[in-house]
Amino acid sequence: EKTPSLKEVYKDYFPIGAAINKQIIQNKDSALVQYHASSVTADNDMKYDRTVNGKGEYTFENGDQIVAFAQANNMLVRGHTLAWYHQTRDSFYQDSLGNDLSKPALLKKMQKHIHSVLNHYKGQVYCWDVVNEAISDYDDKFYRDDIKYFEIAGADYIEVAFRYAYEADSTIKLFYNDYDLINPQKREKTYQMLKELLDRGTPIHGVGMQGHYVIEDSVAKLLPLAIDRFASLGLEVQITELDVSVYPYYHNMDRSTLPKEIKPYTPEVAEALAKQYHDIFTILREKKDKITNVTFWGIADNRTWLSHYVVKGRTDYPLLFDQDLLPKKAFYKVTD
Ligand code: XIL
Repeated sequence: EKTPSLKEVYKDYFPIGAAINKQIIQNKDSALVQYHASSVTADNDMKYDRTVNGKGEYTFENGDQIVAFAQANNMLVRGHTLAWYHQTRDSFYQDSLGNDLSKPALLKKMQKHIHSVLNHYKGQVYCWDVVNEAISDYDDKFYRDDIKYFEIAGADYIEVAFRYAYEADSTIKLFYNDYDLINPQKREKTYQMLKELLDRGTPIHGVGMQGHYVIEDSVAKLLPLAIDRFASLGLEVQITELDVSVYPYYHNMDRSTLPKEIKPYTPEVAEALAKQYHDIFTILREKKDKITNVTFWGIADNRTWLSHYVVKGRTDYPLLFDQDLLPKKAFYKVTD
């Protein structure tokens, strides 16, 4: 019997996406993406450190390969990301002598970057994560304030980034993207920021809830509240980076304190993962009128960022396909 195709199963709900890169395109993972996805995101290739080299020159080749792959397969492309504190070279915030830029100079440089990327991808990318991860994880702080963007420009960099994006291309959808938005404190801060931005007429069309969940999250309880809350602002909601780690929660934790032992992928773990995915997709189907894209952060466990990022070398199993690209129990829960 043929494996069901995710994009077929969900065609009356929302596009199904996958974050991809060169390795995925050039290996047999690409067939899996072609079969299941109707949308792709570059997992790294459209970020600052990949689109601008050390000499300040634009290098779009890798991102262009992602776009070519999407076009050859009739897929949407989500753009990720324009203003983010991470994967942005230090020299971006500095003058040629290595001193911090003034606020106007930084905003001007940001404008140039946003315009360059959006002009390059005009007509090829249908929505963009304009600002990524601006809200603090900590309850006693509102914005993430220990980053260069904020230190130099304060919260203004956020609004201005959306305005620059709209200036460059008024035809695409502009998103604010962040993780752990089901967390009530972070959700409310994000809601308040978005409301104020919208009240000031900022061109912003949607919220990307990254969706890096863990098996033990109370996603079933919290996800519907967050979707409704953001949608009440008239914004589209997208799940932009979905995966479910089998390890404990990690978002606002000191990574060096996280357990390092590798969990074996037992039938119990497979079952718990399947249940979490079942609950998540039940909610997403119920909320389909508010959700305009659901993208996985990767396609199969063989190349998940979670096995080399949160705790280096700790194998994780967060996706619907295993190391050998075969569908897991969670896949059948989602397509059943
Ligand atoms: C991750 C990539 O998957 C990794 O390869 C890279 O080393 C770090 O970034 N939130 C985001 C994504 O918005 O850009 C991150 O992607 C994962 C967390």
